[in-house]
Amino acid sequence: MAVEKEKKTCGQLMTEWKEFIWNPRTHQFMGRTGSSWALILLFYLVFYGFLTALFTLTMWVMLQTVDQFNPKYQDRLSIPGVMIRPKTDALEITYNMSQTESWEEYVRMLNKFLEAYDNAKQVASNRDCIPGQYNEQVDNGVLNYPKTACQFNRTMLGDCSGLNDTTYGYRDGRPCIIVKMNRVIKFYAGDGKPINVSCLAKKEEDAQKLGEVVMFPPNGNIDLMYFPYYGKKIHVNYTQPVVAVKFLNLTFNYDHHIECRVNAANVNTNDERDKFAGRVAFKIRVNKE
Ligand SMILES: *[C@@H]1O[C@H](CO)[C@@H](O)[C@H](O)[C@H]1NC(C)=O
Ligand SMILES: *[C@@H]1O[C@H](CO)[C@@H](O)[C@H](O)[C@H]1NC(C)=O
Ligand SMILES: *[C@@H]1O[C@H](CO)[C@@H](O)[C@H](O)[C@H]1NC(C)=O
Ligand SMILES: *[C@@H]1O[C@H](CO)[C@@H](O)[C@H](O)[C@H]1NC(C)=O
Ligand SMILES: *[C@@H]1O[C@H](CO)[C@@H](O)[C@H](O)[C@H]1NC(C)=O
Ligand SMILES: *[C@@H]1O[C@H](CO)[C@@H](O)[C@H](O)[C@H]1NC(C)=O
Repeated sequence: MAVEKEKKTCGQLMTEWKEFIWNPRTHQFMGRTGSSWALILLFYLVFYGFLTALFTLTMWVMLQTVDQFNPKYQDRLSIPGVMIRPKTDALEITYNMSQTESWEEYVRMLNKFLEAYDNAKQVASNRDCIPGQYNEQVDNGVLNYPKTACQFNRTMLGDCSGLNDTTYGYRDGRPCIIVKMNRVIKFYAGDGKPINVSCLAKKEEDAQKLGEVVMFPPNGNIDLMYFPYYGKKIHVNYTQPVVAVKFLNLTFNYDHHIECRVNAANVNTNDERDKFAGRVAFKIRVNKE
């Protein structure tokens, strides 16, 4: 009995279901007539079409305000940071003269960094610019891309070029350090006046122990022709200028604390919050038995 009743209910359900899918009397498909379905379809078509249009419009307006070549937000970097090579985590260059393996890594880092400065590469990709003036390349109505860069020849680093002395003085206890100023887009370093880098013992009383230093290019000068920098996408072959400092007679087995500063009219080197703004401090120690 119970089974029969269940069967009946089941059959009824099937009929109801079929009628729901397609009702031949009212011509309704899933409870709605064709015109009702058409209206719903139309509504969603218009609705999503509108959303798509709105999204596209918003994106387009946003993209109009983005300059592909110049980052929109870069004010935080208005003072160029300064860094050294070889760079170690603690900014400490320590080695033992007699143990080659203690300075080999520094030499390797310098070799790698200076590869891009090889004269042949510089001559192939960059111009021989007029010293003492900015390499300004304005866009007079038309975009003047890509922009040319000025040669910075490896030979300009003299005894610190690694060309004649392939150990950059590390073997003889007269090591070279390279100082580089980070790139800042459209920054006219020096404000038209000459720029140089100077490296001194952090404490004046240590100057004697540090001994004589020599800078390359002479006087630690950075020519204005390497500015302004227009950004990676436009200034494709740009080679940033560097200064090398060679410690000619430092006292061995002593921690020398050095500070290198960029001396330029518009580079503030006294920012308390950013200790790499326009300057860099590092330690150098050469051990000798
Ligand atoms: C230098 O040599 C001393 C022992 O002669 C050693 O303790 C020290 O770790 C060495 N330093 C480096 C940087 O290799
Ligand atoms: C960049 O350097 C390559 C060769 O390295 C050269 O063909 C190209 O013209 C240079 N581009 C500019 C804008 O100077
Ligand atoms: C770079 O070196 C090449 C020769 O190797 C020379 O012709 C060129 O004038 C040098 N450029 C600068 C800026 O000194
Ligand atoms: C390498 O040594 C030669 C000969 O002493 C010299 O003429 C040349 O200027 C030196 N090169 C560098 C980059 O110092
Ligand atoms: C370095 O630049 C500063 C300021 O721009 C100047 O006073 C100083 O004489 C320069 N030093 C050298 C060695 O050219
Ligand atoms: C090197 O420095 C020492 C003192 O630290 C000094 O006596 C010596 O004269 C200096 N040598 C040269 C060539 O300057």
